[in-house]
Amino acid sequence: MAAAMHSARPSMPAACPEALAHSDLVAARVRDEIEAAGGWIGFDRYMELVLYAPGLGYYAAGARKFGDAAAGGDFVTAPEISPLFAHALAAQIGQLFGQVPPRIVEFGAGTGALARGLLAALDGRGTPAESYGIVELSADLRERQRAALGDRRVHWLDAPPRGFAGVIVANEVLDVMPVRLFAREQAALLERGVALRDGRLAFAGRPADASLAAALAGIEADVGALPDGYGSEVGLVARGWMRSAGEWLARGALLAIDYGFPRREYYHPQRLMGTLMCHFRHHAHADPLWLPGLNDITAHVDFTAMAQAASDDGLQVLGYTTQAHFLLNCGLLDLLQVDRSPAAANAAHRLISEAEMGELVKVLAVGRAVDGPLLGFARGDRTHTL
Ligand SMILES: C[S@@+](CC[C@H](N)C(=O)[O-])C[C@H]1O[C@@H](n2cnc3c(N)ncnc32)[C@H](O)[C@@H]1O
Repeated sequence: MAAAMHSARPSMPAACPEALAHSDLVAARVRDEIEAAGGWIGFDRYMELVLYAPGLGYYAAGARKFGDAAAGGDFVTAPEISPLFAHALAAQIGQLFGQVPPRIVEFGAGTGALARGLLAALDGRGTPAESYGIVELSADLRERQRAALGDRRVHWLDAPPRGFAGVIVANEVLDVMPVRLFAREQAALLERGVALRDGRLAFAGRPADASLAAALAGIEADVGALPDGYGSEVGLVARGWMRSAGEWLARGALLAIDYGFPRREYYHPQRLMGTLMCHFRHHAHADPLWLPGLNDITAHVDFTAMAQAASDDGLQVLGYTTQAHFLLNCGLLDLLQVDRSPAAANAAHRLISEAEMGELVKVLAVGRAVDGPLLGFARGDRTHTL
């Protein structure tokens, strides 16, 4: 194996020797792949490897990931913050169960917190789910979910059954799907990928291929020409996933909850460097090549592209709003009348505050053969901004 390539970052928490050794293995796997590919791989392939390579990637090996920094976690998601999130979401799903069979498929279930919370809340509301399928890319997380969820209604799937009727949920899944990076430099369109410089992983550009150029042309048709020096990312994997949803969903709704913006805001000329962000022990940083395999890597979601991909496959946009509006529409304040503890109030603040998740996280509902209006979008619907 090549010599250790990690450099210490004084502003970041230290990784333990075992974690550094694991990162060396991940880096070696990436180097092998770069060499086999002739010296360069796209960032999407890099992201796929460092997040999902079996037994190695951030989501596919045993790292703790979820939870507080003190407990060794790197980030906290809404269902991990509080069961209030699942309880509010259950109000929306309960409304949908009036129209579609009471079945749920959740993508990317993490620790299983949302599944546990939703099943309990739907039972409590008198609108129980009869089945709860989980599609989870990571074998490691699938095992954690199996250990955490004893409910006989829960089962694991490779994909939703074709012709599925029910509700599909994905919380913070689209933002960890691999993205391609582009840069406009002196009128040329480059794809930023990963190469080796003195044996170390380094960013390197090459002329964009036809598929990236076409994606950019579509974006610029909506937002205007992007300025020289502008760099960002395109989530083509997420678009493909959303198109597949059109094949899975015969009757029902898909709720995608994630960090993101409408296209005009995403590719705003002033957002010169895109939205790529890494998380390590609750420290956010912008270098995805640092300690590969130990960091979460995310990019915001272009919700205009998601709505378009869904419509291309015959799904209808049922609503788009902020997490704050969605949770309030779903009765978050009523839930706080039931649980008056300071912990619940603090969690609700984190979920809806503009300075935390309330504004940056959006909820998009798409569906087929479902009548609106949906509860979660009753006030503050922003579908017109997509
Ligand atoms: C940031 S975590 C969010 C986990 C959970 N939804 C939550 O809110 O706590 C992302 C999850 O999505 C999974 N994932 C990523 N891409 C996926 C895909 N294409 N299909 C299924 N799961 C995926 C990851 O393995 C992980 O469980």
